[in-house]
Amino acid sequence: MNSTVVIVTGAAGGLGSAIAARVADDFDVVLVTDIQEKALQAVVERIGASSRARVISHVCDVSDPDQVTALFERANQVGAVTGLVNAAGIGGFCGIEELLPQQWDRVFEINTKGTFLMSQAFVRVATAPASIVNISSIGARSGNDVLAHYGASKAAVIELSHSFARGYGRKGIRSNAIMPGFIYTDMWRNSVPFMREHNPALADVTDEQIFAGIVDQNVPMGRPQEPEDIAEATAFFLSERAKNITGQTLAVDGGTVLT
Ligand SMILES: NC(=O)c1ccc[n+]([C@@H]2O[C@H](COP(=O)([O-])OP(=O)(O)OC[C@H]3O[C@@H](n4cnc5c(N)ncnc54)[C@H](O)[C@@H]3O)[C@@H](O)[C@H]2O)c1
Repeated sequence: MNSTVVIVTGAAGGLGSAIAARVADDFDVVLVTDIQEKALQAVVERIGASSRARVISHVCDVSDPDQVTALFERANQVGAVTGLVNAAGIGGFCGIEELLPQQWDRVFEINTKGTFLMSQAFVRVATAPASIVNISSIGARSGNDVLAHYGASKAAVIELSHSFARGYGRKGIRSNAIMPGFIYTDMWRNSVPFMREHNPALADVTDEQIFAGIVDQNVPMGRPQEPEDIAEATAFFLSERAKNITGQTLAVDGGTVLT
């Protein structure tokens, strides 16, 4: 029988790397991809050393159709492509009046078009039963005025999940979305300084304290989430345990967005 292959985008990042490590328990081959070549190689070495799965990498910008095509050519050579996790994404706070059209476009290029291109390429070649997991965000349901671009791009990801669920259910391909809450990855590390710049009261507060304060104000369970929380939910959606679940959105956020 053909080896089963799962593709994880954004796999050099905080969530993508944890997801790749978790799904390595369930697939024969994990194909990790990102634009950060060195960091991606480190992920391959780390996960490959401790998992039974074969872990391979392929550098790909998910917003570039030609690179996405090349990625899937590689995946097809390796085995039966049955899983896709779209975790590549960019964020960044910006006020509505300051937001440049180019910032809007870049966020949509990666978060939304990238998810579409990957999912489109996936359904063309996937071997059923197969599953797509899109990493959206609680930003899709928050109405945050410094995340208008990001929130809209992630809300679009949820609707893309719905379209693929309806379009490919009878072909045995499921499509679901996860809305992670607050996880202290590079995305947050790069965003926290914006808070300090726009709030003089935070001038002497560390990045970690600012993040902890945001969590305290917003999360009913009063704690941040871990990359492993998102990885576990992703593994569930990819697995046959979720065989009758498609078109759904799961918040893994300690109760922040009550769905
Ligand atoms: N960290 C959080 O609190 C949080 C919350 C909600 C949603 N998310 C989402 O989770 C996903 C992962 O974020 P993270 O927290 O791990 O951040 P991260 O910055 O650690 O990881 C994101 C990864 O995406 C990669 N990437 C960026 N542009 C790319 C492109 N064009 N093609 C391929 N890869 C690209 C980056 O190189 C990086 O490795 C993102 O989609 C993010 O929006 C994160």
